Amino acid sequence: MRLVILPNYDAVSDWVADYVRRRVLDFAPSAKRPFVLGLPTGGSPLGTYRRLAEFYRRGELSFKHVVTFNMDEYVGLPPDHPESYHSYMEKHFFSRVDIDRRRTHVLDGNAADLNEECRRYEERIAAVGGIELFLGGIGPDGHIAFNEPGSSLASRTRVKTLAYDTIVANSRFFGGDVDQVPKLALTIGVGTFMDAREVLIIISGLAKAHALYNAIECGVNHMWTVSMVQMHPHATIVCDEDATAELRVRTVNYFKGIEKMLARQPTYPMAPKSFPLGPAARAGRINTRRRSRSE
Ligand code: PGA
Repeated sequence: MRLVILPNYDAVSDWVADYVRRRVLDFAPSAKRPFVLGLPTGGSPLGTYRRLAEFYRRGELSFKHVVTFNMDEYVGLPPDHPESYHSYMEKHFFSRVDIDRRRTHVLDGNAADLNEECRRYEERIAAVGGIELFLGGIGPDGHIAFNEPGSSLASRTRVKTLAYDTIVANSRFFGGDVDQVPKLALTIGVGTFMDAREVLIIISGLAKAHALYNAIECGVNHMWTVSMVQMHPHATIVCDEDATAELRVRTVNYFKGIEKMLARQPTYPMAPKSFPLGPAARAGRINTRRRSRSE
């Protein structure tokens, strides 16, 4: 795992957006071979989305051949509700770049059959050959997507009851009223996230320091679902200094030292052309052949 420690949130956003830009350019996506990007919502990726939109405006990056899959969505919130993740994505990202809306996927929290919606979401991911790069944020309780503490580390896309901590944390988007926050969500599973060829997690602020400590310095544990990234063959956490408040000085120095060494390389190391797929793909549960379709 790579831990990139930067001075503040803006530096984190710049770094992540630049990384995504270079990964997409390096991949050279086309209609037949799109770049499949997993996306989060929340406060953590806002700066990244702003920077990515700037790249698009400056003609430095196109999303024309990018397919996206979002992590989660509330159950029962109309898609045009200002706090739905459909609205969030439209407002902060999709409307600001040249992405083809038919190639964006956000779980439907109003589907008549929620379990069927989750099953089909996994199928849609498999149909495009799996996710190339999954970006994520985490909650203060270490959840990744809505995989709350105690979630199975092998979980797939499903209906999930939100933890009280998460409902309180998210009430800031609902006028501070916990009663307005939906209590159920659809979420990709930890296993779905782990199947991406590469995962990148954005962690910022003191409130996430304990979660980062658990993710990095403690063992893999279902009470801190983000800790599962220790098992991922190509995982990066990008964080600010505040988020490192609970790490040992030795840990911080170790990861900073690695970044110093990487910066000395003549060419910045990018992802290898072809990543191994996660456990589900290896077990033959998902179709690794890229489809040449432009849905
Ligand atoms: P955030 O939280 O709004 O701080 O990014 C993300 C999350 O709870 O998953």
